[in-house]
Amino acid sequence: MDKDNIDIDKIQEFGKILRDGGTVIFPTETVYGLGADALDENAAKKIYEAKGRPSDNPLIVHIADKKEINKLATDIDERGYKVMDKFWPGPITIVFKKKDIVPAITSGNLDTVAVRMPSHPIALSLIKESGVCVAAPSANISGRPSPTDEDNVYEEMNTRVDGIILGGNSNVGLESTVLDLTGDIPMILRPGGVTLEELSEVLGEVMIDPAILEKNENIIARAPGMKYTHYAPNAEVFIVKKDDGDYVDKINKLVDEKLKEGKKVGIMCINKNKDKYKGEVIGLGDDLDGVAHNLFKTLREMDKKGVDIIYSEEFEKGGIGQAIMNRLTKAAGYKFV
Ligand code: TXA
Ligand code: MG
Repeated sequence: MDKDNIDIDKIQEFGKILRDGGTVIFPTETVYGLGADALDENAAKKIYEAKGRPSDNPLIVHIADKKEINKLATDIDERGYKVMDKFWPGPITIVFKKKDIVPAITSGNLDTVAVRMPSHPIALSLIKESGVCVAAPSANISGRPSPTDEDNVYEEMNTRVDGIILGGNSNVGLESTVLDLTGDIPMILRPGGVTLEELSEVLGEVMIDPAILEKNENIIARAPGMKYTHYAPNAEVFIVKKDDGDYVDKINKLVDEKLKEGKKVGIMCINKNKDKYKGEVIGLGDDLDGVAHNLFKTLREMDKKGVDIIYSEEFEKGGIGQAIMNRLTKAAGYKFV
């Protein structure tokens, strides 16, 4: 479906599937989502089944109208309204105290609910026509990179849901920022499309959940999903630290060693370095937005090429770089060289 020329009859058909308790995959500006009626326990259960996802990992509830927030959440203060006004519709999810109407299966047994109003026209139209609040995690099998393009989402999930709307590539390419507003200081539980810098401008002091900044078995991530292995391709991923001077040489040396061992090696880099490397080289983008847009797709592409090892350049952590390095570090299982 063309997002600039929406087929409303088709959308209504898919909306009916959701209203009747079925599952529908749809595009959003961040990644593809696997939706079902968030307030219907049986429907929400189907999401966990389709993904093979642990049921203590709560779902994000998607709405098409800011007013719907009052149905789902309580204790919304000025900070909440500020963030919704400034960034919705868009790539940020807000965690509030939940109302009783949100079933435990949707909230992963927590007393909070995560809510997002996406900006993708197909997503908005589908939610609106369905007439329900739509719980939707990323539309991948649990642990795999989130799908951001039509081919990958169709291939992986086609037989697992009641409907799929294919609507081109996700623009952002990484999942939404998850912001917890239930504590004294706003806390980013998952970095994403809306950056720490942008949030600080609106809210003043904003923290990032310390658990996601380092690998430390003793700190438990506040977003349950962040504790699971995630985004992992079949190949082993290493991030090559940028601190040494001869950066390109360092990567090429590593690649040479592995090629000698008979391994198939993939390299992910900023576009301008593409011609400097040997092996299966994929340029992720010209800048950080490009890298975010292409990262998940490239991890999947590397699998298709059948590489044994992937070396990725390290990226700056400012702006969207925080989210990029968060996903990349998880895909690499925290392995740096
Ligand atoms: O961009 C996105 O957010 C996509 C699209 C489809 O909207 N959805 C998505 O959902 O990434 P999912 O389920 O893959 O990730 C949701 C994250 C998980 O890490 C989960 O643990 C966290 O949000 N989360 C959900 N509800 C929460 C809550 N009440 N408290 C803390 N973390 C929560
Ligand atoms: Mg996910």
